[in-house]
Amino acid sequence: MDLIIKNGTVVNAGETVKADVGIAGGKIVAIGMSLEAEGATVVDAADKLVLPGAIDVHTHLAMPFGGTTSADSYLAGTRAAACGGVTTVFDYPMQRKGMTIKEVIDSKKAICEQEACVDYAYHCIITDLNDGAILEEMGSAVESGITSFKCFFVYKKEGMMVDDGTFVQLLLKAKEVGAMINLHAENPDLIDYNTERFLAEGKTSAWYHYLSRPEYVEAEADKRAVHWAKHLNAPLYLVHMADEEGLEAAIEAKKENPDIFIETCPQYLEFTCDVYKREDGRNFVCSPPMKGQESQDALWKAIKNGDIDVVATDHCPFQSFEKDWGKDDFTKIPNGCAGVENLYPYMLSAANEGKISFNQAVELCSTNPARIFGCADKGSIAVGKDADIVIYDPQANFTISVDNMHSDYDHTIWEGIQLKGYPEQTYSRGRLVYDHGDFVGEPGWGNFVKREKRT
Ligand code: URP
Ligand code: ZN
Ligand code: ZN
Repeated sequence: MDLIIKNGTVVNAGETVKADVGIAGGKIVAIGMSLEAEGATVVDAADKLVLPGAIDVHTHLAMPFGGTTSADSYLAGTRAAACGGVTTVFDYPMQRKGMTIKEVIDSKKAICEQEACVDYAYHCIITDLNDGAILEEMGSAVESGITSFKCFFVYKKEGMMVDDGTFVQLLLKAKEVGAMINLHAENPDLIDYNTERFLAEGKTSAWYHYLSRPEYVEAEADKRAVHWAKHLNAPLYLVHMADEEGLEAAIEAKKENPDIFIETCPQYLEFTCDVYKREDGRNFVCSPPMKGQESQDALWKAIKNGDIDVVATDHCPFQSFEKDWGKDDFTKIPNGCAGVENLYPYMLSAANEGKISFNQAVELCSTNPARIFGCADKGSIAVGKDADIVIYDPQANFTISVDNMHSDYDHTIWEGIQLKGYPEQTYSRGRLVYDHGDFVGEPGWGNFVKREKRT
């Protein structure tokens, strides 16, 4: 063994045990009491939790969007991930009309090989079927480890939206080839109608971003999507669920089709639409927007009941000057907020405060993402898995500030939020990448995660 993490409390989704963890060649090779090995580095984790690294299955790194490019490069985003206990990041490379899946993925490979500080995978965003060629290609994409595809019901003017017919074809093909379809569900026509009305009336503040796409706008699209997935018995992963009515429809549909999965994000668990009334409301503009208190309560209830499968971030930060483009017109605010470094600390803090258990936090942020998206070597502390490990200090107090984050953005919606407990170290395949506040990894360390197809 090269490394032994001793005296810690190992927390998996299913159980909590006091044990040492032995690591060799980047893998977990032993779990037991009083592990010893000559020459091994020994880390004392007494009074600490030993957790599987989180898997953030929803990030947008260096993504051209909203008239600019999201502020975190692959280097900055994965560096921040490491410092927040995230050891695998899923990015969303986007197809421009006419591109093949292979072209979309290949366009990111070289940069990730150079820059990624933790392991990475891709969900490919599909905007156009290329006369059916994309459907033909999905099977070979799955064989190459790209087992999930995303589509948007929104961003019509941006040329990113798919219609119901396209969505249904993607669902059916995904079912055939062992893939997953991820969906951003909001109703584009309602958004356009509301937006035009507000602008004509001179209602231009960030509050109208929320009012142009309130609860019912998301609920309609959630219901439409689960309707298709249920009747076609096809796999569907609803990203960034934020509204109560859509959530209830999805939970109901899961009873008939257990291959429907629900993701929410920490921002919907922490903030409500009231943030859009603040002076800095534009910084919180993302889609779907934060909703009312009832929706937030429903999300927490669903988390506690095990009805929500995954918490991921939708990390898509923009700089203040870019958010400021929308000071007098909410439609000009680039949509998206930071989060990759806050995901695990936030959910673990919720556990530390007794809102959920630590096992649930691990399940939502690591075990379920690994299972749903076919990361066979990730998601738990078990012999044979990658040694992606977080040592967590439940006694630490931490106040989030842009100054103690490790991204490239210049502000964060999480500024001032206090957390109970915080990660102390992160290991990526046995290599220390984060140590007591500092990034100690290296760009290029991260590996592409070739995923298994769904069976
Ligand atoms: O506002 C958001 N969520 N920006 C990123 C793109 C998306 O819709 O997920
Ligand atoms: Zn989205
Ligand atoms: Zn997103």
